[in-house]
Amino acid sequence: MSDILRAQDLHVNFYTKDGEVKAVNGVSFSLQAGSILCLVGESGAGKSTTALALLGLLPKAARGPSGSVHFDGLDLLSVDQQTLRRIRGKEISMIPQEPRASLNPILTVGTQVEEQILAHTDLSKKNANRLALDMLRDVGLPDPKNILKQYPFQLSGGMCQRVMLSMALALRPRVLIADEPTSSLDVTLQAEILRRLKDTCRELNSSMLLITHDMGIVAQMADEVAVMYAGSIVESADVQTLFRYPQHPYMYGLFQSLPRLDRPGRRFEPIRGNPPDLMNLPGQCPFLPRCSKAISKCRLEPMPVLDEVEPGHKVACYNTLDYDWMNGDDEG
Ligand SMILES: Nc1ncnc2c1ncn2[C@@H]1O[C@H](COP(=O)(O)OP(=O)(O)O)[C@@H](O)[C@H]1O
Ligand SMILES: [Mg+2]
Repeated sequence: MSDILRAQDLHVNFYTKDGEVKAVNGVSFSLQAGSILCLVGESGAGKSTTALALLGLLPKAARGPSGSVHFDGLDLLSVDQQTLRRIRGKEISMIPQEPRASLNPILTVGTQVEEQILAHTDLSKKNANRLALDMLRDVGLPDPKNILKQYPFQLSGGMCQRVMLSMALALRPRVLIADEPTSSLDVTLQAEILRRLKDTCRELNSSMLLITHDMGIVAQMADEVAVMYAGSIVESADVQTLFRYPQHPYMYGLFQSLPRLDRPGRRFEPIRGNPPDLMNLPGQCPFLPRCSKAISKCRLEPMPVLDEVEPGHKVACYNTLDYDWMNGDDEG
């Protein structure tokens, strides 16, 4: 498989009145054509900042990004604004984490959806309106005719999210970047929308970078997974490998905190401690203070690099796990 989008060594800092926040610290990944890559991590890990950096959408407080983002023979971090605008929307669509904030509050939903269609297709206004109705219906919105007449503030968060989703998919993008696209929906609707999202991507042969903090969504959606912690990717692999043979101690913590169907009596154990302060990142592994597997090397050496431990499986750790713990007795 070939990669359609490749990010290399991305860095983003935010300058705030309290100091410099190191939000993204050398992130590299590639998105394969026609596949779904889940970027997963706790809140504050730098997932949204990474997504915004890819398309030149960082807020003003950001310094960067540095690194490169390869798409279609171009480096998106060095192309001119006009090229970037053409690619954004038509070739790479983005559903941002705050859908309401991305809709214009003073225009009706219909105006915005139709403008988006007219800007990127040759459709007449009438056909754009028809397409808009179909799009809203496709994401399960009831009474789409009425929704097109509403202003964003008249819709719930979940409805805004589905409007953004429909706009992003309407242009049949080659790459879809979806940042927690179902976070405002109840679980039933969430599962339904995710299923449609996956089907649509497969139909269009589009690739998707799906951002989530939810391992259940990863299990449902991902072909490939990249796990992010404190601004860095600490493990990446195809989804089966990651779930069967995770190697980073952070994964041990994440899986310990998940319910297991096969072991109903098991206690959930949240990972102890908190993620590090991104204003004062240690030189060592950022997971060190919470790690139950740390060895002296972890304290003495700089942060480990993301290294291939087997083909397609990369881990940034000096003391990777032997994976017996997944199936062994971990009741303690
Ligand atoms: N506009 C901003 N100004 C200052 N800090 C920010 C800004 N946006 C994000 N950050 C900080 O960058 C870090 C990563 O945030 P974010 O990318 O939103 O994480 P995630 O999407 O994984 O929850 C956090 O510490 C957050 O507080
Ligand atoms: Mg986010």
